[in-house]
Amino acid sequence: MGEDYITSVLKETRVFYPLKNFSANSLIKNMEEYKALYKYSIENPESFWAEKASELEWFKKWDTVLRNDQGFFKWFEGGYLNVCHNCLDKNIRKNKDKLALIWEPESGKSKTYTYEQLLKEVCKFANVLKNKGIKKGDVVQIYLPMIPELPISMLACARIGAIHSVVFAGFSSDALKDRIQDSGAKLLVTADGSFRNKKIFPLKDNADKAIKECPAIKSVIIIKRAKNKVIIEKGRDYWYSDLIKESAISNFCQPESMHAEDSLFILYTSGTTGKPKGVLHTQAGYLLFAQQTFKYIFDIKNEDIFFCTADIGWITGHSYIVYGPFSNGATVLMYEGSPTFPKPDRFWKIIDKYKATVFYTAPTAIRALAKEGNSWPNKCRLSSLRLLGTVGEPINPEAWLWYYEIIGKKRCPIVDTWWQTETGGILISPLPGATPLKPGSATIPFFGIEAEVLKDDGSKAQANEGGYLVIKKPWPGMLRTIWNNPEKYKHTYFEKFGMYLTGDSAKVDEDNYFWIMGRTDDVIKVAGHRIGSAEVESSLVSHKAVAEAAIVPYPHDIKGQAIYAFVVLKNGNKKSDSLKEELKQHVSRQVGPIAKPDKIQFADDLPKTRSGKIMRRILRAIAEGTKEYGNITTLAEPNVVEVLEKGKIN
Ligand code: WTA
Repeated sequence: MGEDYITSVLKETRVFYPLKNFSANSLIKNMEEYKALYKYSIENPESFWAEKASELEWFKKWDTVLRNDQGFFKWFEGGYLNVCHNCLDKNIRKNKDKLALIWEPESGKSKTYTYEQLLKEVCKFANVLKNKGIKKGDVVQIYLPMIPELPISMLACARIGAIHSVVFAGFSSDALKDRIQDSGAKLLVTADGSFRNKKIFPLKDNADKAIKECPAIKSVIIIKRAKNKVIIEKGRDYWYSDLIKESAISNFCQPESMHAEDSLFILYTSGTTGKPKGVLHTQAGYLLFAQQTFKYIFDIKNEDIFFCTADIGWITGHSYIVYGPFSNGATVLMYEGSPTFPKPDRFWKIIDKYKATVFYTAPTAIRALAKEGNSWPNKCRLSSLRLLGTVGEPINPEAWLWYYEIIGKKRCPIVDTWWQTETGGILISPLPGATPLKPGSATIPFFGIEAEVLKDDGSKAQANEGGYLVIKKPWPGMLRTIWNNPEKYKHTYFEKFGMYLTGDSAKVDEDNYFWIMGRTDDVIKVAGHRIGSAEVESSLVSHKAVAEAAIVPYPHDIKGQAIYAFVVLKNGNKKSDSLKEELKQHVSRQVGPIAKPDKIQFADDLPKTRSGKIMRRILRAIAEGTKEYGNITTLAEPNVVEVLEKGKIN
């Protein structure tokens, strides 16, 4: 890796080598070291993971590293530990005064917690939950904005063995209701409101609507955040600030001894069909994987300030704001608000204010900020940065280069990290001190991860040939099942090839670098958020004017993909712009603003096979403007394509 950053004009051949001084201070210093450890991890996965697992603190050591229980994988069975203990108590013994969490709200009135202070808050919250009758194995639903109480309540759950289920605060009451009904939560933690762009979002009001239809919820704990007026239902709703004043609330709470395979959390994510599915992660394997990936991929140092812009309502926040950083004793920076409010320099100013060293964000944010021009970042120093990361969708080389040159000043490697809610942590990514980077490629698999691209018949794809991305062997951070639906787990992920099917298409180039191309299913990535076509379609169809609807993605400069909806109205409804607007608002209310279609085209008919199946590839070709419909001879009404093309929304 001698070369200091070389570029060439050809897209596919641009390679950026790690700088010498970066590599010299890294955990993995060159590709030879990576290759040797990777080989060991693949040939001896159980020894590899057992060695790594001894970096955690166990109350009792495991008996078996890995067991396949009829297609359900169990890691570290017989072992007992506590995730919260590994995140807080363990680090307090090393340095209780080290900063654990920095919180930057929209107002700029930041708050910080040392490891010792964070433990105290977590213990108090844990005791409050216990007082409300929450026990090991109970589900706690969390519907909070990006405030410190969000990670605090998650860690409090982990401390007492409750299973948390966080719902992104941008979701509507319907989405919250669906998730609570599926998770069976007994208690809901929410806030009186949240701030975004100085506006207040009425979280508690949404929660009230949702829990009308969720009889299992016995208590609601409300955090005061926005001084927003809320309705308090006596005997059910409590202000958190009142509960912690109760004399019985102690500053310490004994961590529960948890079996390695006890449930840690449920996180709902969109799949191919129907409602979102509850991805289940368990204790030890998830924690170990979050801890190890964070350590190696962000090459974390004691003095690092790690700034991750994700919302904790998504897996990135779970693994790389909460469990990864804290289990490594790192300092993490979380913010509330949006990247462009009040000005498009919000991130750059936060980086300078706290001298953040590692910055982890999404391509959609990079594209949006690049569009605002270089003057915003150029007004800031950004000299504290040493490493950059991206996640959530493929990054186009132009955005990558902007990030590299304008934000990283050609000094900072970029880790393009590929992973999923289901994978628990990063599976494909550069190691920043070792891996030569190619803009747009997530590069190479992490230790213990055997990734491959297969053709439909299960044979291995050739170099640069697209196919299904699969993971051949289990890894500790993988999902264990789908909550309430083990059959769906087996069917979705293992039926096609008998190994983990990611749902992404990818290709591998001649250097064995992975290039993620997109989803193979009906999941759409809008601004990095995972949206299921089925959810948006059923929301559209639930509107009284709509008979039928189909949605497809189309390329969008900033969001990566946006939603194009084809809508067939019921007889007697007029096709009007105001109805389009109403439909957009309808989806926004029912699912959430992130799922709102950007374009709606009214159609008299959708392209269907003779058996009545909607042919989405045709709709996609129309929306994308490629006109590459593929075979259309099986269409019941072939002229529908021409009609739809004519009515296309540009
Ligand atoms: C996509 C987010 C390309 C992919 C952590 C995956 C990516 C889905 C990348 C999971 C990346 C994530 N390059 N595509 N670096 N990272 N994806 O569950 O399609 O919200 O299947 O998890 O995001 O989305 P999820």
